[in-house]
Amino acid sequence: MMDLLTDNKVHDEARQGEAYAPFAHDPNQYKKRFYIESYGCQMNFSDSEIVASILNDAGFGATRNFEEADLVLLNTCSIREKAEQTVRKRLTEFRKVKDTKPGMLVGVLGCMAERLKAKLLEEEKLVDMVVGPDAYRTLPGLVEEAEGGQKAVNVLLSRDETYADISPVRLESNGVSAFISIMRGCNNMCTFCVVPFTRGRERSRDAFSIVAEARDLFERGYKEVTLLGQNVDSYYWNNEADNTNVTFAQLLEMVALISPELRIRFSTSHPKDITDEVLHTMAKYENICNYIHLPVQSGNTRVLQLMNRTYTREWYMKKVDRIREIIPDCGISSDIIAGFCSETEEEHQDTLSIMDYSKYDYSYMFFYSERPGTLAARRYADDVPEEVKKRRLQEIVDKQYQLSLESNQRDVGKTFKVLIEGESKKSDLEWMGRNSQNKVIVFPKEQYDLKKGDYVNVHVHSCNKATLMGKIV
Ligand code: SAH
Ligand code: SF4
Ligand code: F3S
Repeated sequence: MMDLLTDNKVHDEARQGEAYAPFAHDPNQYKKRFYIESYGCQMNFSDSEIVASILNDAGFGATRNFEEADLVLLNTCSIREKAEQTVRKRLTEFRKVKDTKPGMLVGVLGCMAERLKAKLLEEEKLVDMVVGPDAYRTLPGLVEEAEGGQKAVNVLLSRDETYADISPVRLESNGVSAFISIMRGCNNMCTFCVVPFTRGRERSRDAFSIVAEARDLFERGYKEVTLLGQNVDSYYWNNEADNTNVTFAQLLEMVALISPELRIRFSTSHPKDITDEVLHTMAKYENICNYIHLPVQSGNTRVLQLMNRTYTREWYMKKVDRIREIIPDCGISSDIIAGFCSETEEEHQDTLSIMDYSKYDYSYMFFYSERPGTLAARRYADDVPEEVKKRRLQEIVDKQYQLSLESNQRDVGKTFKVLIEGESKKSDLEWMGRNSQNKVIVFPKEQYDLKKGDYVNVHVHSCNKATLMGKIV
């Protein structure tokens, strides 16, 4: 039932437990080893790359094998209860190793660390360090404290930390696409969401440091960058030097101008904040991909109000119209929550019908999971029975399968410019890449002398709901 969730690149706890081994330098130069596993959204994965950079500077090299690590880190997610359960299960596995290797330190980073703070030390006895998302610069000091036998905690949230000056160590990268954090935190108070509590106030990163990071990646052979934030359209950076401001549309343009060979993507757009200026900038630059992740959450105005999404059903539909008007071939995807507090059957039907209206190419779908401390937890009863939530979610998943298939069928017969990301999972005689709309296209290598990171035109001859199949033209 949940298999549409499994390759969620941006926000799902299903993308979990990836371990990294960034051997940027000779592995033997480091005296100690750290192991890091990341859960949750792409921003958390991106933070792990910052953590790796900070630890490298402090003399720690990475290992893929947690059993040989001196320091084991879990970068955690709190978005749904299941995400936290997964982490707790993983901690029990670490306990077994720690029992035989008492010197090994275990640290919990990220959103669960921020949400539970020192309580986590009581609940999970093997944990030595609890470090929130704005406190990673203090990690080396915290490790020293923990080595001295003290439990170490830093969960201070910051109003200005953006890690702008830290060069992330690219972990498990395909060498073609990379993620760049452009802001942190979130000022929206969607009533179901824990992120404002775990990530703190919204702040935008220095635009020049973003452009410099993108340029550096391009010079190192990367061909695609994804600009990340919980709400990228509210990016707003003030350049104190000359008191000018940079909006998200302007930032997109600055990054697009690095090279026409560098593709730009971004995530996530809040429907209330995406502007015509952004849409026109996307239309103007061929290398800004025609793809928008525009989470709807619900198709019913009353439920949207309870969620504090600040738009109505009609307003959202108009936004979709506007996107299609300015960027006719734009891919659109969504996040959807089934069974939010007090949602009726008719209101659920509104969600199914807005999916039809929006013709999503893809969606990330969840049933509502109450999070302690959120407005919804405090104000509303989580009163839709679990089996009803699950049935509604299944209907949403089925609807999305049908929409994804139809969307792919509309692409049969078309030719797309594809960025090659690597060999296809099934065969080393085939390439896998994506078109501007973020759809996966698989095609035979044939006699052409191509490589990862090349662009190639591919004619689509067939499809299933997940993949387009084609031939090089
Ligand atoms: N900033 C992004 C979303 C980040 S969280 C945005 O505003 O769209 C990713 C997704 O998780 C959300 O879009 C929502 O669909 C889902 N989600 C968040 N809190 C949830 C909860 N309590 N229960 C179920 N799904 C939730
Ligand atoms: Fe959560 Fe809403 Fe912020 Fe997204 S915009 S992170 S859903 S509070
Ligand atoms: Fe999870 Fe935190 Fe991201 S709660 S979705 S890791 S911002």
